[in-house]
Amino acid sequence: MSVRRLADESVQPESFAFNREMAAQAKVWINKYPKGREQSAVIPLLMLAQEQEGWVTRAAIEHVSQMLDMPRIRVLEVATFYTQFQLKPVGTRAHVQVCGTTPCMLRGSEALMDVCRSKIHHDQFHTNADGTLSWEEVECLGACVNAPMIMIFKDTYEDLTPERLAEIIDAFEAGKGDTIKPGPQVGRIYSAPEAGLTSLTDEKVFLKSAPRAKAAKASGEDKKTV
Ligand code: FES
Repeated sequence: MSVRRLADESVQPESFAFNREMAAQAKVWINKYPKGREQSAVIPLLMLAQEQEGWVTRAAIEHVSQMLDMPRIRVLEVATFYTQFQLKPVGTRAHVQVCGTTPCMLRGSEALMDVCRSKIHHDQFHTNADGTLSWEEVECLGACVNAPMIMIFKDTYEDLTPERLAEIIDAFEAGKGDTIKPGPQVGRIYSAPEAGLTSLTDEKVFLKSAPRAKAAKASGEDKKTV
């Protein structure tokens, strides 16, 4: 994982302010917390700033610290700790975060990064020529059971092969990212076994209690309360 620092001053905007829609959402988040605990809204507010600007600017960090009456260093700590916050401009159509932690690495994340290198840019944190795509390697994103996986903005794409990742990148590049269903890309439901059940396969296990339930219903036992 790379060192997370704020972007160079040359790309930092002078100021930041939430637009009307984001300001309303920020208010909703702040009001979710008890009086005196408004600082708990720091993560959602930084996410809103990122949604608006595409990345988290120094000015946005300062703005959020003022809104929450919070020392700037505390907001900076949060923004630089979590990899969901982009600290420099990223691809406008997709920023591909490839998990490179052990389970994903053992299941082929290096090959996924090769796809990013060839389709986006040889080096992470650089955009492609059009500025539409970028990528980076990140630590575990919590979907190890469906390794290897990537995250693009708020969605994860799991059980990937290099070929499937190439298709996904092409779709985002064409502005059709919403046609790709997030989650497992191999047809399984969530983390259900890919090749079908290997245990509790005898249906009788589930049906065994059925006659008893029927008898209880007939006698009214099922309606008794203690
Ligand atoms: S190791 Fe990749 S999601 Fe956990």
